Amino acid sequence: MYAIRTRMDQVQRITELRKLLHEYNYLYYVQNAPVISDQDFDTLMHELQDLEKRHPECFDPNSPTQRVGSDLNQKSGFEQVKHKYPMLSLDNTYSEADVTEFYNRVSRDLGEPFRICCELKFDGLSISLTYRHGKLVQAVTRGDGVMGDDVTANVRTIRSIPLVLKPDSGYPDEFEIRGEVLMPWDSFNALNAKRQAEGEQLFANPRNAASGTLKQQNAQIVAERGLDAYLYYLLGTDIEGNSHIDNLLTARNWGFKISDHIKICDTLQQVLDFLDYWDQARKSLPVATDGVVLKVDSLSQQQELGFKSRSPRWAIAYKFHAERAVTRLNSVSYQVGRTGAVTPVANLDPVLLAGTVVKRATLNNADFIQAFDLYIGDMVYIEKGGEIIPKICGVDYDSRSFMIGDKVTFITTCPECGAKLVRIPGESVTYCSNTNNCPSQLKGRIEHFIQRKAMDIEGLGTETIDLLFSKGLVRTYFDLYKLKVQDLCYLEGLGDKSARIIVHSIEDSKQVPFDRVLFAMGIRFVGQTTAKSLARKFGSLHNLASASFEELKNTPDIGERIAQSIIDFFSENPGIEDAVSALGLNTQMSVNVAENGAQLNMSLDGMSIVISGVFSHHSRDEYKDIIEAHGGKNSSSISSKTTFVLAGENMGPAKREKAAQLGVPVKSEDEFLEMIK
Ligand code: IVH
Repeated sequence: MYAIRTRMDQVQRITELRKLLHEYNYLYYVQNAPVISDQDFDTLMHELQDLEKRHPECFDPNSPTQRVGSDLNQKSGFEQVKHKYPMLSLDNTYSEADVTEFYNRVSRDLGEPFRICCELKFDGLSISLTYRHGKLVQAVTRGDGVMGDDVTANVRTIRSIPLVLKPDSGYPDEFEIRGEVLMPWDSFNALNAKRQAEGEQLFANPRNAASGTLKQQNAQIVAERGLDAYLYYLLGTDIEGNSHIDNLLTARNWGFKISDHIKICDTLQQVLDFLDYWDQARKSLPVATDGVVLKVDSLSQQQELGFKSRSPRWAIAYKFHAERAVTRLNSVSYQVGRTGAVTPVANLDPVLLAGTVVKRATLNNADFIQAFDLYIGDMVYIEKGGEIIPKICGVDYDSRSFMIGDKVTFITTCPECGAKLVRIPGESVTYCSNTNNCPSQLKGRIEHFIQRKAMDIEGLGTETIDLLFSKGLVRTYFDLYKLKVQDLCYLEGLGDKSARIIVHSIEDSKQVPFDRVLFAMGIRFVGQTTAKSLARKFGSLHNLASASFEELKNTPDIGERIAQSIIDFFSENPGIEDAVSALGLNTQMSVNVAENGAQLNMSLDGMSIVISGVFSHHSRDEYKDIIEAHGGKNSSSISSKTTFVLAGENMGPAKREKAAQLGVPVKSEDEFLEMIK
């Protein structure tokens, strides 16, 4: 319908749509009060996207269309920016006595009445936003307090952060506002569920998830993860007024999301009541909080109190004690991992703890069970540490009755294969001794082998492996390479299509680089990083298998325990080197990188290379590694200093044009591989 409009009309419509969408976005994400349906919102958004495509000259990084993020603005690292005002931290305490002391000290130092502004302490990562003429121009993380990362492109995707402020709402020409970027419980739980389904490592808590997300190189991923932000501190030279809370309320009128749970207190008792109230009430908030921040409200009094080296004297953070829940221990099960390690797990009555329903908790090892003197039926306290799986942190011995169940004693035989369990003196872990026949260990090794970080075999998961194992089709990961479509397509839950995907993906895994093959082989204590280190130092499976204990021990990141484990692995599996080679897997570093630098056929020394597009032989990250391994530098944008562009499919037209303009050569993936061969 807008095809018939004149250019002027179309440009005007762009302005109008941007204004409307900013407003609807604000009502939805900041006010929680949507006024139009999602469908109507999407229709307007599509109209704007369409018009912006026709008028690239109207590009604006703060347009509502930019919220979806771009995957073109990938950089090999974030630019470091110096904070105009350093980002300080706060003194922390867990005790009300310290809060009282803080209150009394402020009272003594000021010698006049004062008010304390109490706010929730949001558990995310701090961010500093700069606005100029009502537009977001920069977003920087705290970093070390002096310098932080410029994460503006990622922050633009956070819907509750205004890209443009409310017109004529009285904001100063330039100011900084600080706050916390966080991941609400709902987004966090959804993200972890998705990661679990895809076999990826879970985030331990919303703070780690928010921080990991904001540091993503791809703004599109950030846009999908549902981050949120609360602002809590306004800075700048043109700020009117003398009260912190007034500043926040004013900033709310400009369009910022300011917490509703702020209270001005005139007495210490009011402060303590606020702490007590929120210690419980926070459990029903949609976001994680870990305490309360107390700030002297008057800005002139803040100035009078001043700062210590790294924190203000006018504020303190009171931290809540970790959330605990109490629930019943119903049984203990034992899981046998791929290395044979047996982990006891407590099965509990489901209970809500810090945003998620908990049904299981780890009991770590035999010593742990013994120390708690546990009985089935006990009421146990559980807590979440930094880990995803909660731990048992105490037992309510008083609530034990004569009805209590059996005493929990660590098993002596493997629950999977019946073999005797052994405990190496000095170690806390108990192992199943049946290394080559225990089904749990065998299946665990295959699961480890196929995971994304290892051989990345699609279409296989725990259930399919169970099935293949029970049908006798696989026993070791070597057997995977014998599977044929006709072996799989008649199995329950698998059809012709899935069978083909699996077989194809197994074949593709022969391209996986050596360090990942090494990780996949499942040598005890050899994780991803260790495998990389070993691959770099030894260059091939053959060299590694014949390395001495001393040579192994002299590898970066490798100590005696890992060195011994590698020696044991190759002596217990004498034919493994030939067997892996026979499968056609990579048993050598493809880029021949020796210790302490590259010995290469082709050096990229001094070259600045831009990667763009989608590749078929290696991932973008692998190409980045290859470039660095050859002494080249990865650069994010094309300039006259760029040596060449490594272009995959779908290289953006803007980049292609820029390369042509500057006379920068563009090399295809094959040309590049040929060049460094
Ligand atoms: S005020 C100079 N207010 O807690 C005072 N900080 O340990 C600046 N935080 O780095 C901070 N919620 O990331 C303030 N309502 C709140 C907060 C808050 C969370 C974080 C912030 C800061 C850390 C201090």
